[in-house]
Amino acid sequence: MPLRDSYGRSINYLRLSITDSCNLKCLYCVPATGCRKSRKDNLLSYDELLRLTRGAVGIGVEKVRVTGGEPLCRPGITPFLEKLGQIEGLKKLVLTTNGILLEEMAEGLKNAGVSSLNISLDSLRPERFFSITRGGDLRRVLRGIDAAERAGIRNIKINVVMMRGVNDDELFDFAALTRDAPYKIRFIEYMPTLNDGREQSLMVPGEELLARLARAFAVEKVEKDTMDGPAVYYRIAGAQGEIGLITPVSCHFCHECNRIRVTSSGMLKTCLFDNGVMNLKPFLGEGGDGELQEVLRRMVSAKPRQHSLHDETVSRRPIAMSCIGG
Ligand code: GTP
Ligand code: 5AD
Repeated sequence: MPLRDSYGRSINYLRLSITDSCNLKCLYCVPATGCRKSRKDNLLSYDELLRLTRGAVGIGVEKVRVTGGEPLCRPGITPFLEKLGQIEGLKKLVLTTNGILLEEMAEGLKNAGVSSLNISLDSLRPERFFSITRGGDLRRVLRGIDAAERAGIRNIKINVVMMRGVNDDELFDFAALTRDAPYKIRFIEYMPTLNDGREQSLMVPGEELLARLARAFAVEKVEKDTMDGPAVYYRIAGAQGEIGLITPVSCHFCHECNRIRVTSSGMLKTCLFDNGVMNLKPFLGEGGDGELQEVLRRMVSAKPRQHSLHDETVSRRPIAMSCIGG
């Protein structure tokens, strides 16, 4: 029986954050004061993550996205992914990364069964990249993308959080990358996760980006797959790649939400912006899957109809994206 919530949405996509450590400190993700990291023994172990995924796949999850922090920072990730990829019934194993460690790890990821990568890359200008990431080296990410292609990972998506006055002047530079390479470049609206009052001025609505693109290029809409996330895709006529818009703020996609998330410490979240969580750790022991699956079903059936970003009566704490993984 597929995993369905009380609004009839089928939940087939699990996002697993496997660490809250990251080798970058992107300014939209980490507050200037830094993040408090969990103790190492608070992380779900690889065995617990495998048990959790087996249980979830047993009741209808078909796609797992491994996230962080930066997932490639966690030692032992490649053998873990290999085991994850062998879980019967799992159709897609994918990963979101900042690409810094990709050059050395791409081949191992491919061999472990990772079929697609989402790579965060917010500027194509080295100095700007350094400042957005507070210290990152753009060349390493570009070499990582090359290595992923050489390793044979075909579906590469680049995530660009568009921020007005910070990097939105690079819209056409990013879009132009899709002409000669099969990348999917996705522009993401800045989400108010830090709750620091900057969101109004930084957020560039997807509609505005599309209008700017349409003035410069002939763009056509592209159909997407049922297991895909929230991006809406377009193609510049004749281009190899695609341009995606992810609009969680201006035009939410909750009606088609197909996902649940588990934080690095094992908290199940059925909505990125809902404060409710359930600690799954107690259900990840050696026993059978029954109790875990029961909890997953119960939480999924209480999944909110939509996020509460625009509801001013809901008080919002800053969201630690570093342990939720986007
Ligand atoms: P794929 O289609 O599998 O590539 O998934 P994805 O686009 O969801 O994955 P990715 O990790 O690249 O996330 C891209 C952006 O979409 C991030 O900024 C996420 O925070 C945002 N996003 C993903 N899922 C949700 C969601 O359920 N709600 C909201 N509000 N934003 C989301
Ligand atoms: N707004 C929009 N996207 C964000 N991400 C992290 N924080 C935010 C935010 N405040 C994105 C990262 C990464 C993805 C998983 O989440 O760029 O690509």
